Parts: sequence; C-alpha cells; structure tokens
Amino acid sequence: MIFESHAHYEDARFDEDREALLKSFPQNGIDYVINVGSSLKTTKQSILLAEQYDFIYAAAGVHPEETAELNEENFAWLCEQMKKEKVVAVGEIGLDYHWDEPERSVQKQWFERQIALARQVSLPMIIHSRDAAKDTLDIMKACKAEEAGGVIHCFSYGVEMAREYLNMGFYIGIGGVVTFKNAKKLKEVAEYVPLDRILLETDCPYMAPEPHRGKRNSSLYLTYVAEKLADIKGMDVEKVYEKTRENGKRMYRIEK
Ligand code: NI
Repeated sequence: MIFESHAHYEDARFDEDREALLKSFPQNGIDYVINVGSSLKTTKQSILLAEQYDFIYAAAGVHPEETAELNEENFAWLCEQMKKEKVVAVGEIGLDYHWDEPERSVQKQWFERQIALARQVSLPMIIHSRDAAKDTLDIMKACKAEEAGGVIHCFSYGVEMAREYLNMGFYIGIGGVVTFKNAKKLKEVAEYVPLDRILLETDCPYMAPEPHRGKRNSSLYLTYVAEKLADIKGMDVEKVYEKTRENGKRMYRIEK
C-alpha cells in the first residue's frame, strides 16, 4: 500500500474526474493521501476533501507565493483550522526566490509566523523551498523548526543541505523529478538519505514522472517514483512502499 504525502486534488485540473479518480485509489493500493493547502482558499478546499474521504488528510498553510494575501485577521482563521480533526500538518510554507513574488521580506515574515504556529499547535510542517537554500535553513534554525519537525517537500538541493535537515530530524520528500534523466543531484540525495527518512510524493497535478513528464500528475504515478527509488537504493520496490508508508504515518502521526 502507498502513502501519498503531498497532493493538490482541489486543483481545477481535477475538476473533470476528481471523484472517479479519488474513488479508484484504494483499489490501486493508495491508502493515504495528504492534500496540501497553498493558500487560504485551497486550505479550505483541502479540509473539505479530507472530510469527504476517509483516506485523505489535510495540511493547512499558505505557500510563499501566496503570502501577500495574509493579514492578522485571516491568519487567525488559519490558526483555527489547526484544531480540525483531519488537519495533520502546517503547510505548505517556506520561501520561493525563483519567482521572487511577493517581496522576500513578506515571504520571510509569514514563513516565521507559520513555523511558530506549527510549534504552538505541535504539528509537523511541510516546507516548500526553491532557490532559497540559505535563508530557509537560517530561518528554520532561528525559529527552532526542529521542535515541530516535518518534511522538506520536493527536495531540490544537494547532499550537504539534505544532511543539515536530516540532523534537524526532518524528512525528505521525493517525487517525479527523481525519474528525470538530468536529475543527477536528486539521485545523489536519494541514495544518501536513509529510507526511513524519505516520503513519497507527487505534488500533483504538477511534476509528473517519466514516462508521463509534462502531463497531469496523480498519485497513480507514484509507482514510477518508487521503482526509481528502489533502483537507486538497490532494494525491492515493496520495501520502498512499506517503509515510506510507515514514515508517512509516523511523521503525520496518523494512528489508524
Ligand atoms: Ni505542493
């Protein structure tokens, strides 16, 4: 059975077949899905999906690119969502200097506030960090992010950075990119990180693995990611499924 640790099924690209697709998951071996919020709206939608489907859990948080929408009033609303039964993480939160929008000071402020929130409610956090390696690590250390823990999702840095996060107790999220021919750096990271600290993720509808690169991604394609990981680590794919599922349940503290 497969633990999908990062998906966005509220996305409009699933409007046509969302229900049929989600309903097909149990028979396709997918028994846990974390649907991750990236704005106030998608946080609300993620929670609704989690209430609708037994195997879906929600993460509540605002992605760095969306932080311009935050203010004290709606941040208070976000804090309230953490009390909901199926909300298992704060995320996705972080820094994105690739697009550099909104300005960095705004991204940093709300990253710090959301780390503090995760610590306050004792939930793990889902970190999005793109082209912002140093500032992400500096802020996480200064804010004692390791006290809440979590995952560095869609990991895009090298082995040195992976070591820093492993030392802080974080998990490393690996998705479709590992199947790309030019993903040398991520393959090195996948080899380096112990299997008990890896989470399988799609980030769907984005990041479809080979041979579906560029198309709409879904959790059904996690098999390609798992097979590539098994190949890199020289182990049976069943072991990859089993361990990453245990990791997901441990990190998100899902008991059933
Ligand atoms: Ni995402």
